[in-house]
Amino acid sequence: MSDSLAATIKRVKEKLTKEAVSSLLDEALLVSKLLGPKSEFGNISKEIATLSKDEKQQIGTLLNECKREVLQAIQKRTTKNTEKEEWFDVSTPGQRPPIGHLHIVTQAITDITRIFERIGFTRVRHPEIDTDWYAFESLNMPPDHPARDEWETFFIQSPITNNQSPTKRKIVLTPHTSNGQVREMEKGNLPIRMINIAKCYRRQSDISHVPMFHQFEGMYIDKNVSIGHLKGFIDYFVKQYFGPERKSRLRPFHFQFTEPSFEVDITCGICNGTSILPNGGDCKLCKGGWLELAGSGMIHPNVLKNGGVDPSKYSGFAIGWGVERTAMMKSGTKLDDIRLLYSNDLQFLEQF
Ligand code: PHE
Repeated sequence: MSDSLAATIKRVKEKLTKEAVSSLLDEALLVSKLLGPKSEFGNISKEIATLSKDEKQQIGTLLNECKREVLQAIQKRTTKNTEKEEWFDVSTPGQRPPIGHLHIVTQAITDITRIFERIGFTRVRHPEIDTDWYAFESLNMPPDHPARDEWETFFIQSPITNNQSPTKRKIVLTPHTSNGQVREMEKGNLPIRMINIAKCYRRQSDISHVPMFHQFEGMYIDKNVSIGHLKGFIDYFVKQYFGPERKSRLRPFHFQFTEPSFEVDITCGICNGTSILPNGGDCKLCKGGWLELAGSGMIHPNVLKNGGVDPSKYSGFAIGWGVERTAMMKSGTKLDDIRLLYSNDLQFLEQF
């Protein structure tokens, strides 16, 4: 009896497996049709109840195995069918690839260039790897002059061997854009209205310094250029770039290559130059309502001479400032760490 029952179970399994594969019923319905209490397997279960204990166990195990196989056939078919029938809406909008934008420093360089172009200044490029002569000595800083210490300079070994003096052969990564001053004068086209924007390098890396940063240098040389022109130039830029309500001031300072020299401050955009916030608190961005912006001055006669310009006929001013700092001042952002600008962190960069 149990042998023929075993044979029946196997036959039923073969038949139901075939049905499972070809059926179009959904999974739940098919499971109850092929494996439920009213199915052929259901009837067999009832017969098993009449068997002896040993037979019950043997046939019961076989029945369970066969039911499992049929169930697997059903499940396999269901996955296949859903894969085949997966529907997708061709009219749904596609996913847009992320679109980049210009880095905040590039944006600032473009804005600065446009502002100065409007008053006849031309953007020029000068080497970012230059000789010690253009970076220091021609700017009235002889070798070993202590003022050089302020520019934490990277000196690099130079393959240049010509008959120039050793100081001219020494090569530096330019620590400021002032190397463009004498180079521009050497072009011999007067008057000069120059904006030199370039990368600069200094041996400094901390929360307020990056070893590579940008400066822009304005230089104007003509007959009778005065401090008044310098102040007008600064005011024009400050109002165009930061807004008409901002003011600037010149503070006496010292640079070897300008005489007299000034540091340029602008009124703080957060406290409006008052150093007091609308809520009564002290402004933490500025010092007494002023922010330091640039170094400037009237070009030293020695520098004019080094560029082949006659100081008895011509005079000029020069001014240099940092692009990163200027851009941060405009957006009113006080970065905890300026190195973030160059850390390729998209979450940070996408804010600007
Ligand atoms: N080169 C100076 C600096 O890097 C700035 C400066 C430029 C000062 C031109 C005077 C004139 O600090």
